[in-house]
Amino acid sequence: MFKPRVYVSRQIFPDALDLIEKSAEIELWPDDEPPSPEQLKEALADVDGAIINVMDRIDASVFDAAPKLKVLSQVAVGLDNVDVAEATKREVLVGYTPGVLAKSTADLTFALLLAVARRVVESDKWVREGNWKISHHPMFWLGSEVNGSTLGILGLGGIGLETAKRSLGFDMKVLYHSRTRKRDIEKKYGFKYASLKRVLAESDFLSIHVPLTPETNHFIGEKQLKSMKSTAILINLSRGPVVDTEALYKALTKGWIAGAGLDVFDPEPVPADHPILSLDNVVVLPHIGSASNRSRRDMHLLAARNLIAGLNGERLEECANPELYEKLGI
Ligand code: DGY
Repeated sequence: MFKPRVYVSRQIFPDALDLIEKSAEIELWPDDEPPSPEQLKEALADVDGAIINVMDRIDASVFDAAPKLKVLSQVAVGLDNVDVAEATKREVLVGYTPGVLAKSTADLTFALLLAVARRVVESDKWVREGNWKISHHPMFWLGSEVNGSTLGILGLGGIGLETAKRSLGFDMKVLYHSRTRKRDIEKKYGFKYASLKRVLAESDFLSIHVPLTPETNHFIGEKQLKSMKSTAILINLSRGPVVDTEALYKALTKGWIAGAGLDVFDPEPVPADHPILSLDNVVVLPHIGSASNRSRRDMHLLAARNLIAGLNGERLEECANPELYEKLGI
């Protein structure tokens, strides 16, 4: 029986691979390092569909090189690496994986928030370096109080909402700013909508969850950082370029804000000699927001189902360009 051909650009969980194998012939990129842009184009030249990752840049030149492509299935909620408008023009369905990673990413947001506030990484390092000489010192390692503080959320999508929900257990007050105001959520949880200016000015913790778009590139720069509390801690689990890295370094060294927890960086990966890594009031993680076993497996399975649906000419479970359905008659 004829099987469509698909390319899988990075490793995925075996059961997701098995699922795809039932419907398609797979070419799997074997390396940890992603394919280069040229290798990616070559790999996509003769396939009907592909599972792609945040590191695969998909623009018009890639579509030119992939004339048979019907569906691209991204293993991520963020789609800043994919020119979705171009995909729509070329009648290529784009799948993605929102929802299944929201809770694990929100968990990690809180891990970072607590780590920076209570100086977890810094003090652990101090212990390992043999500095713990006095069993208990009344004035050592004082950090910021999390409970009862104000959490500012920028972007109340799936991850922003899960993060805000976690703050309820810490008796925090939530102020949020988002493209769309969500009155039902405000009513249900007591979160308050506010202008960007107010969220910046009043937050003790500012947690960023907006997608990276041309509008949100350097959304947080010098002006915004200067308008925050000098005691505030910034947490970014969206995309690195949403925060202007140079401005953030200035803010952290000049005392405009007190600290930062970053799961994403601009550039990624951050060079080991980057000046931000010399600062004690920053915790940097290697883009692992969704990296729990369960979330990653769920992402891979959802991406596999999206891919298969697209190959079968059916609607995707999670589609970034559903406006194509009518045109494709599905
Ligand atoms: C996403 O889903 O956008 C993450 O950044 C990748 O795990």
